[in-house]
Amino acid sequence: MRLRWADYFKNLVGEWWSGYLGGAMPTLPRLIVATRNPHKSSEIRAMLGDTWEVLDVNDFAQLPVIEETGHTFLENARLKAQGISRLVAGWVLADDSGLEVDALGGGPGVWSSSFGGEEGNHAKNNARLVSAMRGQAVRGARFRCTMVLAKAGIAQADFCGTVEGRITDEPQGEGGFGYDPLFIPDGYQLTFAELGQNIKNRLSHRAQALTQAVGWLAGQAQN
Ligand code: IMP
Repeated sequence: MRLRWADYFKNLVGEWWSGYLGGAMPTLPRLIVATRNPHKSSEIRAMLGDTWEVLDVNDFAQLPVIEETGHTFLENARLKAQGISRLVAGWVLADDSGLEVDALGGGPGVWSSSFGGEEGNHAKNNARLVSAMRGQAVRGARFRCTMVLAKAGIAQADFCGTVEGRITDEPQGEGGFGYDPLFIPDGYQLTFAELGQNIKNRLSHRAQALTQAVGWLAGQAQN
C-alpha cells in the first residue's frame, strides 16, 4: 500500500513507540470486496482512505465465482458476501445492482445483465430495452444497488441506494456502462452516459449504498 509522508512519519514514530513498549504495531483492519471488477474496489479504497486495507477477490488465488441464484438484489449480495467471507479472514463487502423499469413491472431488475439474452452484453440489453419501451408513455425507472457486509460467513449489515429517473427513446452519450445511455436521472436533461463519471459518482445508487457502508465500517474500525 502507498503511504503519504505524514503516514510514513506516524508509522515510524508508532513503530519506535511500540518497540519501546515492547508491543506490536496494530495492523489496519482488512476489507475484501467480493468483485473481480477492479474499478469497484478502487472506488471503495478511495472512499475509505487510510483507515482500511482494501483488497478484492483478484488478490486471492482460487476463490470461486459465487453463483447469483437469488431473486432479489439483497439475496444475491448476501450470497456473494457470505460465500466469500467463509473463505477469507476479515470483512467482506458485496454488491448487486440493476435497473427497474415501471412499464416493465419493475424488470429487468436482478436479471438486468442478461435482459438481451446474453449475460453481460450491454448492446443487446439496451436494444431490447429500446424496443420494449417503444410507444410507451410511462417512462419512469430507477437504478438500485444493495450492499452487504459479512464476516466469517455471516451477513452483518446491508445498505441500499436508489436513483430515480426515466428511460429515453434512443441511446444518448458514450460514457458509463450498461444502461447509462438510456437513463436520465431526475433533475437532469442528459443521460448518465452524457453526464460523465464525476456527476454519476455523486448521484448513483452504488455511491449512495457505499457512503452508508463506509460510515458503518468507520464505526467498526473505531471499536
Ligand atoms: P452488477 O451488479 O454490477 O452485476 O450489475 C448488474 C447489471 O445491472 C449490469 O450488468 C448493468 O446491466 C446494470 N447496471 C447496474 N448498475 C448500473 C449502472 O450504474 N449503469 C448502467 N447499468 C447498470
